[in-house]
Amino acid sequence: VSFDFAALRRYPDVEAPNLFAADATDRLLLDTAAQSLQTSPPGTVVVLGDHYGALTLGAAASFGCAGIRSHTDAITGELALEYNAYRCQLTGAFEALPLTPALFAGARVVLIQAPKALDELTEWVGLISAHAAPDVEVYLGGRTKYLTQAMNTVLGAAFAEVTAGLARQKSRVITARRAKPAPDWPSYPRREWHPDLELWVCAHGGAFAGTGIDIGTRRLLAVLGELPAAERAIDLGCGTGVLAAMLATRRRIAVLGSDRSAAAIASAAATMAANGLADRVQLQRDDALSLVPEASTDLIVCNPPFHLGSAVHTGAALKLFDAAHRTLAPGGQLWTVFNNHLGYAPLLRQRIGPTRLVLRDSKFTVTATVRGDPG
Ligand SMILES: C[S@@+](CC[C@H](N)C(=O)[O-])C[C@H]1O[C@@H](n2cnc3c(N)ncnc32)[C@H](O)[C@@H]1O
Repeated sequence: VSFDFAALRRYPDVEAPNLFAADATDRLLLDTAAQSLQTSPPGTVVVLGDHYGALTLGAAASFGCAGIRSHTDAITGELALEYNAYRCQLTGAFEALPLTPALFAGARVVLIQAPKALDELTEWVGLISAHAAPDVEVYLGGRTKYLTQAMNTVLGAAFAEVTAGLARQKSRVITARRAKPAPDWPSYPRREWHPDLELWVCAHGGAFAGTGIDIGTRRLLAVLGELPAAERAIDLGCGTGVLAAMLATRRRIAVLGSDRSAAAIASAAATMAANGLADRVQLQRDDALSLVPEASTDLIVCNPPFHLGSAVHTGAALKLFDAAHRTLAPGGQLWTVFNNHLGYAPLLRQRIGPTRLVLRDSKFTVTATVRGDPG
């Protein structure tokens, strides 16, 4: 592959010296699929889970692929692909699309950066087998330690031929060919009734915690009754929308659920519809509240992420805390939860304002932070 991967950036995602925009899996995927990519007619290549554009742009630059359809869950990744394409003068080579049947119609080659959740892969493979060309070839790449036997099983349920390639730089590619009928494939979003909350939770494969309730989220739900009065609230990093939905039903306030993940927003939309809350909760796919005006909100609840890809990094949570600082009106509050060992309280004081402990048990801390006066 002749493409200059070093020219790619992660921006607008978190950037740091130990975080990269392209990895060994991107390179191995492109090398493994080289022959198929070279001979693919325009409009027949699909890329799933491209982190920052290395696969989409590498296929276009190295093999002349045209009309590539690319789906990236995080809006940050989708924007990074656009910015990188602009920088590499490849803007016309691809189209970024949502996860719908149109993404896959007639596809002959599908390149996949393995998702973290098996459920996400299951949803993708179901869509491929239902909508791609019958002779489609699927290349699933990932770090060897994250490629599980269960992923082979998912591919094997939809393809007659599944082969694992040799590992290179701790990455591996699994190739699937000869689609076979897969009639009983699960349909997405899935849904689950939670009698304790009297709530339906709906989830696409890529949504955090699936149709379950995360244990950190449970801590925030436990203190829902203590939240200050507010006219408008934001569930920052809303996932399937559990906190947004509970705020809307229990507190009867206007709520915005915001998340950078397409799977999260689609799941939250299904959750709101299932609970009759679609008109009371607004949803927005956005990176760190970039679309929300400064000092416009009274209350933010947030169960922040603490993983960036596979690298543990506080950058992801700090980005959300800074977003809360920018969008809270003076006197407005951020209620958040974190694992005790993460010790975010001093950071919250420094970056936003006075922070008090609301709840602390053996695993988790819930804090309330008041936005200080600006200046
Ligand atoms: C720990 S999950 C919490 C999900 C949900 N609130 C819940 O309680 O189940 C964190 C969420 O933050 C989202 N997220 C991470 N970084 C983000 C960013 N920069 N902007 C918006 N959302 C982000 C993730 O997509 C994920 O859905």
